[in-house]
Amino acid sequence: MNVIFTTMHEQLTDLLVRFRESEGNLITLLQDTQEVFGYVPQEAVYWYANELDVPASRFFGIATFYAQFHLKPRGKNIVTACCGTACHVRGAERLVNAVKRELKLEEDQDTTEDRLITVEKLACLGTCSLAPVVIINGKMFGKATTDILTREIRSLKKEAKKDE
Ligand code: FES
Repeated sequence: MNVIFTTMHEQLTDLLVRFRESEGNLITLLQDTQEVFGYVPQEAVYWYANELDVPASRFFGIATFYAQFHLKPRGKNIVTACCGTACHVRGAERLVNAVKRELKLEEDQDTTEDRLITVEKLACLGTCSLAPVVIINGKMFGKATTDILTREIRSLKKEAKKDE
């Protein structure tokens, strides 16, 4: 048993104890799990399924139904590109591709290896007059351009280097 597994096992045991004490439901257990790990690891789901004698499919059903849950690790910084109709027409896909190129992400990758940045796509954010719209860590960029986004991404990378 390696150190990482031991740590994860301890954390899961802890979460399960809290779940049993509070008579919580599976949603709260998944929420607490995501709070600890930043996402819901598959290993956690299978472990809970075994411990609680609940089919793993119930957990995955919940985790895929609610948008709040993430089954893959996410980055420290989140870049959300609107890909609704208005933004699509105004070049959202081109922006996403430019950001991914800047981050050296493959087409099927959405998080950098170092987990610094995750790129997500969403449907209409409700501010179509500002299309294309991109949100970086909660800050909205209307009429976004590749130049603006590249500058922001580089600044996030620079900040991360400073913290190393
Ligand atoms: S389509 Fe992007 S904000 Fe509406």
